[in-house]
Amino acid sequence: MAYRLTVLGTGYLGTTHAACMADLGFEVLGLDVDADKVASLQAGHLPIHEPGLEEILRRNLANGRLRFTTSYREAAAFGEVHFVCVGTPQKKGEYAADVSYLDAVIESLAPHLDRECLVVGKSTVPVGTAARLADKLARLSPVGEASELAWNPEFLREGFAVDDTMNPDRIVLGVRSEKAEKVMREVYASMLEAGTPLVVTDYPTAELVKVAANAFLATKISFINAMAEVCETAHADVKQLSKALSYDERIGGRFLNPGLGFGGGCLPKDIRAFMARAGELGADQALTFLREVDAINMRRRARMVDLARELTGGSFNGCTVAVLGAAFKPNSDDIRDSPALDVATSIAAQGGRVTVYDPIALDNARRAHPELSYGTSAMEAARDAHVVLLLTEWQEFVDLDPEELGSVVAQRKIVDGRNALDAETWRAAGWHYRALGRP
Ligand code: UDX
Repeated sequence: MAYRLTVLGTGYLGTTHAACMADLGFEVLGLDVDADKVASLQAGHLPIHEPGLEEILRRNLANGRLRFTTSYREAAAFGEVHFVCVGTPQKKGEYAADVSYLDAVIESLAPHLDRECLVVGKSTVPVGTAARLADKLARLSPVGEASELAWNPEFLREGFAVDDTMNPDRIVLGVRSEKAEKVMREVYASMLEAGTPLVVTDYPTAELVKVAANAFLATKISFINAMAEVCETAHADVKQLSKALSYDERIGGRFLNPGLGFGGGCLPKDIRAFMARAGELGADQALTFLREVDAINMRRRARMVDLARELTGGSFNGCTVAVLGAAFKPNSDDIRDSPALDVATSIAAQGGRVTVYDPIALDNARRAHPELSYGTSAMEAARDAHVVLLLTEWQEFVDLDPEELGSVVAQRKIVDGRNALDAETWRAAGWHYRALGRP
């Protein structure tokens, strides 16, 4: 049977999942408690920048397979499989994740469930959450245990969300019954037929796979950034070091780019929530290394500010600083925990006149940091700058012409925070070129 699907929570993950599942041929109802967001999605407007997603959204609204609502009653009546895609942000002033949105979804949906169904959690959660929610679901649902829970973590990357959803590296399923597994195999049939590896396991393992994957990626980035710190003191070149390491297939070159480190809505908060949860379980020793991973990552931002200050003669007072990049990574308009904006605001707080430019994250940056100045192009942001900082490696910045940029700045000084530029080319054009982890 072709199940009808609902997607509860239409943030990054939920919108992508809803649109892609509709594109695979399912009838999908997306739900959000934010009526404005629902109206905007229903009108075919994507509130985020994600390549390819708006076309898929519009195509499936037009063919009638995708709709949006704010009504849990309608969602319960519509679907047999309910995907839960709400956020689990970091709690204010704590490392732990705030899972209250997940509880709210179960509490709102369960009382309306009047027939057998499967609720599938996709959010990133502290281990143990699924078991707790499964009990709550059965307790609050009129049909009791006939409303079952499965855990199916999502690994999509911003900027590649459509491809990661349609062609995932793997599908992980935490289930308590063969029936739940069977339903999920039908839902993901096209991906399984295409050869996507499937791991069927219990709830805690499924929950842990996600945080373990993010902890590993964060560790890999902080490892190479720790090497960058050593390179800085030993007058070695971390870019060449990273390249040489990458030829070892056991190590590999992905997520080994040294620079300003990781930000975004996932890696930083996920490693912190993981540490907090391990602490609650009495396994905190196992993850104390993540404290170091976090610390290395945050030190890169401080080091960047120090390097910039060095190039402006020891103080930012009276200096103009151009910041290229506001998004936490290229091809995204997401500024959550953006290393670039963190550096920009620190420099402004230390008296620098900072002008930021980003190809698509400018509006978000302006809303979050009205105290900074913004340019409408890299050239405009760089006008009269005493130092230029490349903090997000947009292709547009990698392609900048050092001569052209050199003609508008006050001083030809640049710090390459992402090791994205060719040092020789910039030096040949008369620039004082510095980078994190390189001589
Ligand atoms: C991440 C995970 O990759 C994804 O699987 C998970 O579902 C959500 O979190 P995302 O936050 O979209 O995805 O970004 P990602 O591409 O992983 O980059 C994270 C950060 O690491 C960025 O700030 C990026 O600039 C930084 N990074 C990445 C590095 O500093 N060096 C690298 O080599 C790679």
